[in-house]
Formats: sequence, C-alpha cells, structure tokens
Amino acid sequence: MDESKKVLNLSETAKLMRVSAKTLRELARSKRVPCQKVGREWRFLLPSLERWLAGQMDTSRLAESAEAYGQASLFQPEATTDDKTAAPGFGDTAFTKNRREPLHRWVPWIAGFSAAFVEEVLSKAVSGDPADATVLDPFAGVGTTLVEGLKHGYNVVGFEINPYAALACEVKLTCVGCRLKPLTEAINKLEDLRRNPWLKQAQPRSKPPGNFKSKRPFFSPAVEREVLLLQDFISEQTHSFVKNVLKVALGSVMVSFSNYSYEPSLSTRSAAGKNDIEHADVIGGFCDKLWEIAADIGFIQRHMKRFEHTPTAAIHRRSYLDSSSLLPPCSVDALVTSPPYLNNYHYVRNTRPQLHWLDLINGNSELRKLEEDSFGRFWQTVRSAPPVGLDLDLPELQQVLECIRKQNPEKGTYGGSGWANYAATYFNDCDRFFRVTRRVMKPGAWVVVVIGNNIVQGVHVETDRFLAQIGELHGFSVQGMHRVRRKRTGSSIVNSSVRAGFTRRQTELHETAVEFRAPE
Ligand SMILES: C[S@@+](CC[C@H](N)C(=O)[O-])C[C@H]1O[C@@H](n2cnc3c(N)ncnc32)[C@H](O)[C@@H]1O
Repeated sequence: MDESKKVLNLSETAKLMRVSAKTLRELARSKRVPCQKVGREWRFLLPSLERWLAGQMDTSRLAESAEAYGQASLFQPEATTDDKTAAPGFGDTAFTKNRREPLHRWVPWIAGFSAAFVEEVLSKAVSGDPADATVLDPFAGVGTTLVEGLKHGYNVVGFEINPYAALACEVKLTCVGCRLKPLTEAINKLEDLRRNPWLKQAQPRSKPPGNFKSKRPFFSPAVEREVLLLQDFISEQTHSFVKNVLKVALGSVMVSFSNYSYEPSLSTRSAAGKNDIEHADVIGGFCDKLWEIAADIGFIQRHMKRFEHTPTAAIHRRSYLDSSSLLPPCSVDALVTSPPYLNNYHYVRNTRPQLHWLDLINGNSELRKLEEDSFGRFWQTVRSAPPVGLDLDLPELQQVLECIRKQNPEKGTYGGSGWANYAATYFNDCDRFFRVTRRVMKPGAWVVVVIGNNIVQGVHVETDRFLAQIGELHGFSVQGMHRVRRKRTGSSIVNSSVRAGFTRRQTELHETAVEFRAPE
C-alpha cells in the first residue's frame, strides 16, 4: 500500500465511512473511533479504521487504551484532588499535555514533565547559536528535556539508570537519522500476521521470562500466547532500530492488557477494583502504538530538516552520580531535570514487567544493583542498615531527620528509623548531584530542578527548600522557587523541636521548580 494513503484526514475518512464530517468529528472527540489529533487536525489510520469497521476492534478497547496511554494511570502520579494552575511564567510541568505530543506520547512516565514547560525554560536559559549549546538532563526518564532540546537544535546529553526508560530515550534520539521504511514494513507484516487465520492456533517459540514472579498470573493464558507470539516476531527482526522500537512499543502497552495496572504503583487490577483481562486484541493494540510511533518519527525527521547542523544526542544508561568520566568539565549550558522525589516511588519495581519481558535485565542481582545505584536508593534498600548520617552541614535538615527517626519506634525499621535512613540517603545524593553538576556546568549556566515537598512518617520535609540550600552550599545561587503545581493537603507534624512537643498542621503538598545559576 502507498504509505501516503494510510493517514487520512477528516473529510477523506467521513467519505470512506459514509457519514457527515460533523458526525465523524463527534465520534473522534468522544474517542469512539480510532484517531489522533495532530495540531488542530484529526488524523485517521486506514488499517485501524478498517479493523474497527470490520468489528474487530471494539470501542471499549479504544477507551481502555486511551486510559492506558495516559488519561488515568500508566506511570502517572496519583490523581490529585485539587491540581491548581501553574505559576505565571511556567506552563504545565505535569506530563498531562505530553499525552498528545509527538514522541512524548509514546511512553507516559511518572513525574514526566510537560514538553511545554521544558521549552519555556530552555528559551529563557539558553542564548546564542543552538549548534554550540549543550542541554543536560541527568535523570532523563523517557526524554522530555532531551527531545525538546533536540527539537530546538541543541546538543543534548542525558543519563537514565532504568534500562526501559533509557531505551525509550535512545529510540527517540536515534530515530531522527533512521530509515522509516524498515519499520513500516515490519508493522505491515505484523498486520498481515494478525489477519492470518493461522494465528488462532499458532504456538509461540518464546517462553515467559524465568525470573519474573508475580502474585497473580501477569497475563491470562490467551493474552500471554499473543504476547509470546509478539516476542517471536521481535526476536526475528534483524534491524536493530526496528527491534528497539518494537520493544519500546510493547513496554508501553503491555500492562494495559495484563492483570495489573498502575495506580500509580504497579498493583493487581483486582486490588484496584477492576476485572482481570481474559482476552485482548494484543497485536491490534500493539500495531496501533507502532503506527503512532511511525507517524511521530516522520514528524521529527521533517522537523529536524530546518537545521543546517546536526545536533549531537547521547543517552547514557548509567547513574549520573558516577558519571564523571563521561562529561567534560564546564561543558553544559543548561540543565533541566526532575529527579526522583522523596516519596519512595519505586521506578525499578514498577518497571519489572518491562525489564523482564523485554529482556532488559539479567537476573535479580542486576535488579538489586539498579536499586543500589538509584538516586536516594529506596526505603526498602536502606531501612535495615545501621543509622545513615548526613554528609553535609545543614543543622535544620539534621533536626528534621532526627524528628523522623523518633517516630513510631514500635514499628522497628518500618517506623522512623527506616524512613530516616531513606531520607538521609536521599539528601546525601542531592549533595552528590550538586558536586557532579558543579564540575560540568559552564559558569553562570542555568540549572532548573523540579521537585516536590513531602510528608515522611508524619513529618513535613521541605525537600525543595533543602535542595535549594544544598545547592547554595556548592556555590550555586538560587534565582527563584516557582510553585508549579499544588497537589493536595496532608496532615503533618510541623514542630521539629522535639522538646517543644509535636503540633499537627495541614500541609500543602506541591511541586517547585528551583532555579539556580552555576558558580561564576
Ligand atoms: C522523575 S523521573 C524523570 C522524568 C523525566 N523528567 C521525564 O519527563 O520523563 C526520575 C528518573 O530518574 C531516574 N534515575 C534514578 N536514579 C538515577 C541515577 N542515579 N542516574 C540517572 N537516572 C536516575 C529514574 O529511573 C527516573 O526515570
């Protein structure tokens, strides 16, 4: 099929379906027909439409996949009761707008911030010829900063310790220079396979990953068979870029047809009051994701033609805190990032399905290493260790940690002592972050860090304010602290002076963009 005939506009689709443009627009708005909005226009993929018209794709799956692709759960932060508007000058830091943006919509990721926010920061923070500027994201996630940097012609470099997120970044950064044809050929082959009656009885050669254990069967038998057939298809690919795209796509959709869901941590569907999934159009959902990715690759390739230079782009699949040999001193013009928050969101555990099923991890010892090297580690990793001390001189923070340590002693390491270890490790890593960052930033360069405040064992921890103070200890000057998102309120102990006793107060939880300038 001629590739250009695959993507239809509204009037072409209305003609094909023999309905008025008005009716089709309504169907599109309410997501009752497979479609995407590109800018202000609706676009329809012919193969998806054909499947839908033939009754092979039902609208509930569309609604379900819309949910899985971001509207509710996948990797997203908890739904907040009273998200308010962002501070002036800063757009939407949350991922919400990314759900419709080319490339950013491939894989929703917790605390991913919006492309619009990054764009706004970069336009303020970097001046001069983009070809000479380097933008860094030390905790790249699925690459919001890196993709936005690249779209503006900057050289970009990132670090991401999670192999699945790093793979998504890698595909986004390398797709600019890759041929699209081998990918569309692979998708067409898969579409043919899906229509082949043989598929109903086909027995997969691939086996489920040996090291992956789950409380409930992760997939139902019927779903698992289709996933394994997809694994066969992926392993047959000889083109490494195509193989990587297929892995990113499968990782993005696999939880949506499993018996688990992101709430935002990975938990069973039944725990979330949802039914298990016995049957699903696995290959159909996967193909839809692939067509979306292919369309976006076409977009970015056209977009990048506007630059005379070819920006450099690199993602390092390792810890930023041990990155000294990888970045030259004084080489970075702007850093925009969002590190893990002090909320113990377990990126490693929450991506176990992707890491195991996509063969991105070699056994449980590698998983443990990933936990050890993660920023702040995790409460589970450090709670039973001997008391962790603070490596930096910040008496107020020291007091807060002592206050946490005293909470709930009857709970052992599940009480204050375990959580104080986690918080101390977290702030020690903030210190390491500034040590590395000070070396790599150009004098006076901007560093923007989005971070939330927290309540740990009932104690309010002003993580954003302490981060600002730790930056100052390393010679960074704080230029501003913008409250970018208010979330909800929680009850917390505010009095850190233990002798004065505890007072409880309603504390607002929020996210702050802390703006620094590197030492001159
Ligand atoms: C809040 S998320 C970043 C999301 C990102 N802003 C986006 O839009 O996708 C933090 C990321 O830091 C990564 N991370 C944790 N420890 C790290 C380390 N030591 N070095 C590099 N990345 C790390 C986590 O895997 C996670 O993806």
